[in-house]
Amino acid sequence: MSASATTTDPAVELSGLRVAFGKTQVVDGVDLRVERGQALALLGESGSGKSVTLRAILRLFSEGRSRIEGRIFAAGRDVQALDKRALADFRGGAVSMIFQEPLLAFDPVYTVGRQITESIRRHERSVTQAEARRRALALFERVRIPSPERRLDNYPHEMSGGMRQRAMIALALACRPQVLLADEPTTALDATVQIQVLLLLRELQRDLGLSIVIVTHDLGAAVEAADRIAVMYAGKIVENGTAHQVVLDPHHPYTIGLLRSRAEGALAKGARLETIPGSPPDLANRPPGCPFAPRCFLAEERCRREMPPVSEIAPGHRVACWRTDAAAAAYRSGSMPGRVPEPA
Ligand SMILES: Nc1ncnc2c1ncn2[C@@H]1O[C@H](COP(=O)(O)OP(=O)(O)OP(=O)(O)O)[C@@H](O)[C@H]1O
Ligand SMILES: [Mg+2]
Repeated sequence: MSASATTTDPAVELSGLRVAFGKTQVVDGVDLRVERGQALALLGESGSGKSVTLRAILRLFSEGRSRIEGRIFAAGRDVQALDKRALADFRGGAVSMIFQEPLLAFDPVYTVGRQITESIRRHERSVTQAEARRRALALFERVRIPSPERRLDNYPHEMSGGMRQRAMIALALACRPQVLLADEPTTALDATVQIQVLLLLRELQRDLGLSIVIVTHDLGAAVEAADRIAVMYAGKIVENGTAHQVVLDPHHPYTIGLLRSRAEGALAKGARLETIPGSPPDLANRPPGCPFAPRCFLAEERCRREMPPVSEIAPGHRVACWRTDAAAAAYRSGSMPGRVPEPA
């Protein structure tokens, strides 16, 4: 047997992650695991704590105001134990991040190529300028930027939005990360460019063995980009399973609401996507019990009193709800209130 313990270590593992800003508990006990070479999507409405969870993996918060608790493990490191220096090296090294707005990742006054070569040489002191340039060129080819040699000498504003997104991905890959964190990487792009970028991420995952955590509020993007989907609501993971389990056999009423609003959005072409009635709780005044109960079509007394435990309803499919059976049955029979029947 040649398999060692480290080869089966997950790429990312969060246990009991809690993040508070002042008195507000924004992330409230998140457990997540991303296996090596896998992609996980964190899906949920605005304000559910997706970005904060993602940024916790790199401890990307300003000092003082935030309180992080729990275990954060990524690319073989205990992130909470890293000192300032190790953390600076870790960011953009073993774990790197891409964002919705690539202009924020680049400095407007330097060419994109220079920023990539500098990132390489900052992390790897022994790499020569010529070698760094060759690596930057190879990265531009890998993310399929046309005329890569010429494009390396572009300033960020000289590129289109889609190309800039690819350039940012190249920058994120510059130091050969094991884990790529992507926060709404395609939200700002046109639908066709969006798909291209999601396909590119899939390709990188496969070809480089990259592990990916992608944050999105778009169910379609989650399915396209990820092997597993974790649905977040009010700072908690309410459902977590393979993309198939979550989309074809949802067991949490919130997931069902997301699926339903998407189906209705698709039926009513051009109409604004209808969202779940009501709004998420005020995190500073968290109600007792399940945070989704006030909006839930299945809520009963117990739901308003007691937070449901996480149950594993199938291997690898975990749901935090008192009424998983009723929810799954309602979804299968299409009997949720206001549900639009599927087209024949
Ligand atoms: N630095 C911060 N200081 C104080 N509150 C913050 C900070 N960052 C985020 N929050 C709060 O934490 C909550 C979760 O924010 P987060 O950005 O994680 O949401 P999100 O799920 O990524 O939403 P969106 O889809 O809008 O990006 C929000 O209520 C937000 O206002
Ligand atoms: Mg966000």
